[in-house]
Amino acid sequence: MTTKREQDDDPTTKQKLIDDQREANAQMVSATIRAHELADEAEAARDRAEDSQRALNAVAEFRELFIGVVGHDLRTPLGSILISAGMLLQRGRLDDRDAEAVARIIRSSQRMTRMIGQLLDLTQARLGGGLLIERKPTDLRETFRNVVEQFEAAIQPEVEGDVTGNWDQDRLAQALSNLVRNAIEYATPGTAVVVKASADGADLVVEVSNQGDPIPADVLPVIFEPFRRERQREKSATGNLGLGLYIAHQIVLSHGGTLDARSAAGTTTFVMRLPRGDEIGAGASRRR
Ligand SMILES: Nc1ncnc2c1ncn2[C@@H]1O[C@H](COP(=O)(O)OP(=O)(O)OP(=O)(O)O)[C@@H](O)[C@H]1O
Ligand SMILES: [Mg+2]
Repeated sequence: MTTKREQDDDPTTKQKLIDDQREANAQMVSATIRAHELADEAEAARDRAEDSQRALNAVAEFRELFIGVVGHDLRTPLGSILISAGMLLQRGRLDDRDAEAVARIIRSSQRMTRMIGQLLDLTQARLGGGLLIERKPTDLRETFRNVVEQFEAAIQPEVEGDVTGNWDQDRLAQALSNLVRNAIEYATPGTAVVVKASADGADLVVEVSNQGDPIPADVLPVIFEPFRRERQREKSATGNLGLGLYIAHQIVLSHGGTLDARSAAGTTTFVMRLPRGDEIGAGASRRR
């Protein structure tokens, strides 16, 4: 029987050990080279992914900037159409058919003005990191009445307690108007729309509810995303972009508040919770 030492001293075994060592070294070198190659490939892939993300962001930014510029420039000629059509109606020299045609021009121009305003708000919210609000001491009691009066619907806002705070009154009127417009538009005809506002501790809580087809449970979590419309093919398809809720939500977020939707048993309710913002002070701000 040969000992280990005698085996190691055997020239054939010695050569085999050297060959194995060489082979192992060679494998290690090629594994290291491959590892470097893979790291280079991964880095190149990451660079390519970053390039395409940059290109995508640039396209998105350009698209929103484009909407912003075009929207802004369209408002001037649209304003002239509205003023001129309004003057024609006021003069009272039109027969009934022409007066109805001019009234249609006015209604369509007002719809376009609202849509352009929404697109401009969308670009501001997207490119500016939220909607700009101008806070000042505000009492919303009058605002509730003014908003519901815009609509030809018999709504009595129920306002309880202290509804004052440090808010952007015009923007909150816009948010409320978007919610009330929806409640009227998507309500079962002949049913009442309810608008309630009350103080809840340090917050103001506003609820807008209506009876009608519920918003499906899987849509509720994404209902505040822009251009989301459930009833594309229904009567309200013309003149609706699907931005009303997105903008209302952005306005509430800019005030540091929350906007939630619930829809069940034939009733849909939107709940706006607004901190009074007294500690923030007056001035312009975006989302905090
Ligand atoms: N009160 C409601 N009851 C039922 N469905 C609603 C209600 N409010 C909103 N929805 C659904 O949510 C969708 C998005 O509403 P949103 O106000 O953002 O857009 P829109 O009303 O379609 O268009 P617009 O930009 O003119 O407001 C609506 O198309 C509708 O399907
Ligand atoms: Mg709407």
